[in-house]
Amino acid sequence: MSTWTVPRIKEMKGRQKIACLTAADYATARLIDGAGVQLVLVGDSLAMTVLGYETTLPVTMGEMLHHTAAVARGVTNALVVADMPFMSYQAAVEEALANAGRFLKESNAQAVKIEGGTIRGPLVRAFVANGIPVLGHIGLTPQSVHEMGGYKVQGKVTGEAQALLLDAKELALAGVFAVVLECVPAALAREITDAIPVPTIGIGAGADCDGQILVTNDMLGFRSGISPRFVKQYASIGEQMATAFEEYRKEVEGGLFPSEENCY
Ligand code: KIV
Repeated sequence: MSTWTVPRIKEMKGRQKIACLTAADYATARLIDGAGVQLVLVGDSLAMTVLGYETTLPVTMGEMLHHTAAVARGVTNALVVADMPFMSYQAAVEEALANAGRFLKESNAQAVKIEGGTIRGPLVRAFVANGIPVLGHIGLTPQSVHEMGGYKVQGKVTGEAQALLLDAKELALAGVFAVVLECVPAALAREITDAIPVPTIGIGAGADCDGQILVTNDMLGFRSGISPRFVKQYASIGEQMATAFEEYRKEVEGGLFPSEENCY
């Protein structure tokens, strides 16, 4: 049993901010866990950051189970949450339950994340009733990129903001242990945080959420393309890797590697 259980994460609301990061592999998960981060999400953003897909939509159950198992092997203390891929939970409750169960049974995750608000109430109830803890996710929900017409801040107009507040309340009532708020105005995130009894985990949602999450590749500077404004880059790993690869190539070409000390 990990140190950071679902009840402990819930109890952190109002006491201590919750630090969360994504991971997709064993080595990174070990480092994140060793740093004391409380929740590790195997986010379906790995579709883009690790697998090179254009959106999160193509990633499969098989791929998510594989990456979740690798992450879980690297984690001792943090809570491991698996993102359910697009169309693994939307079509039917029975299918969703069977798929969610696989993350706990085969990949050693302790909870799953699903996108969507009020519409997911019945599904959250079914998961929780069957012992599967759920992390909600509202605001910018990348699996609905085509419906939203792109990756845009959500809840900027009154009607949208009210709908998101209702979504958060319904998810909390249904039994989620926390809710990710992605790309919503900071004032709305604060209102939602004050209105629900479970922690909010913000990404591009301001400083008043109960916790924060970033995509690890983004915060490490290990990503092609432009980072969204809400990402703070804590390292430039991509640049360091590119420099190392080039130096290696030059040394091999120039006969400098391997040297005496690298030989038997
Ligand atoms: O897939 C992901 O990495 C996520 C986070 C951005 C919350 O859903």
